[in-house]
Amino acid sequence: MERIKVSKLLKSVEFGMDVNVKGWVRTKRGNKNVAFIALNDGSIIHNIQVVVDVEKFDEETLKLITTGSCISVIGELVESMGQGQSCEIQAKEIQVYGTADAETYPLQKKGHTLEFLREIAHLRPRTNTFGAVLRIRHAMAYGIHKYFNDKGFVYLHTPIITGSDAEGAGAMFRVTTLDAANPPKNTDGTVNFVEDFFGKSTNLTVSGQLEGELGAMALSEVYTFGPTFRAENSNTPRHLAEFWMIEPEMAFFEITDNMDLAEDFLKYLISYALENCADDLEFLNKMYDNELIERLKFVVENPFERLPYTKAIDILVNSGHKFEFPVSWGTDLQSEHERYLVENHFKKPVILTDYPRDIKAFYMKQNEDGKTVRAMDVLFPKIGEIIGGSQREEDYDKLLARIKEMNIHEEDLWWYLETRKFGTAPHAGFGLGFERLILFVSGMSNIRDVIPFPRTPKNAEF
Ligand code: 4AD
Ligand code: MG
Repeated sequence: MERIKVSKLLKSVEFGMDVNVKGWVRTKRGNKNVAFIALNDGSIIHNIQVVVDVEKFDEETLKLITTGSCISVIGELVESMGQGQSCEIQAKEIQVYGTADAETYPLQKKGHTLEFLREIAHLRPRTNTFGAVLRIRHAMAYGIHKYFNDKGFVYLHTPIITGSDAEGAGAMFRVTTLDAANPPKNTDGTVNFVEDFFGKSTNLTVSGQLEGELGAMALSEVYTFGPTFRAENSNTPRHLAEFWMIEPEMAFFEITDNMDLAEDFLKYLISYALENCADDLEFLNKMYDNELIERLKFVVENPFERLPYTKAIDILVNSGHKFEFPVSWGTDLQSEHERYLVENHFKKPVILTDYPRDIKAFYMKQNEDGKTVRAMDVLFPKIGEIIGGSQREEDYDKLLARIKEMNIHEEDLWWYLETRKFGTAPHAGFGLGFERLILFVSGMSNIRDVIPFPRTPKNAEF
């Protein structure tokens, strides 16, 4: 008999039919006559209840069915008399695939803390919380591809190992096959990377943007969606050393088009979650964040506030609010400043533009004032920065001057500079942090809980 997933069964099976379900036992209770097994197969947050007439089954087999064990059940789907479920399975055959010793199975009891669950990342997908988060994560990945595909963007695979370290977005992880204990040396004592696998020093990418720009200068509209790596030692609830980023890059887009796309994209994704992840969102709303669904709807329904950095600084300076990090024109905004603007002042998402050039990357288009660049950051409630982007400097001379001014090795970027030499065009793009999006949509409060296996300083166990 063909297996049916619980998600499908709850939607489409008629009472009286025989079905085969397979999954992991969440609980087993009952008495000497009848046992009730709550079975979950990860296809949906809901369990299916299996009712077992004890005397029809071998006692030894039934003993093996404990929380965490994996079983296959064949039985008739019947209307449920119990509360909280519409149907249940009257078991006819049960096969035990794998037992889970009650003494040692870590998820024997409910109600573990999220901190504890991080230590058992190999098992936490079996909890309701992580099932919900991981299904939402999947739906968002799918929604992202759908959004761009429907708009005619081309998915561009940019390299994960990169020979350029010029983006300046963060400290990098080196990729090498040299002997760590005894690397070849130059006469001046530095490591000789000519002997390394790629014949030069290479790192894991911090962003696919620079290569994304090369794609946009041929395909018009592209996006990347891949893992990125930053070796910063920032142990915060919003930073990972390995995170996923979505980076659209569009020829013929100016900063306003870029903002319009970012806002539309975020609203699309949140609506997509509201429509397609309703059960999981209801669960998370109930368990973790009672305002979650309301907040998601609010963001979809209201225009984002747009203002220049300089005005935001005025608001912060005049707020009378005591910040841990002082704020003045020229300083980079900390998450407390971003959240003040979003949560206290405007009470909605904010897009800040025209940041001081000195705190932003070399490739951003310079404004006429000589002080600011056409940057845009999208700030979200509870998150702070969720998107960072800009219009790009398309003028060869201005870009080169900026590269020199910032002491970036021009020779590492010859290929990037050539786009400005051959058929340059106005263009813009942005990067959405995938885990920050999932944080917002799921209402979870720590980024370690929205990626299956988080990579943070001193933590790469699984
Ligand atoms: O603002 P960032 O550094 O921008 C870039 O990398 C540009 N190249 C993007 C572009 O214009 N194509 O990073 C973009 C986003 C941030 O807004 C944030 O959401 C996320 O990536 N992000 C992180 N997420 C998790 N952990 C980290 N350490 C992150 N650093 C950035
Ligand atoms: Mg940024």
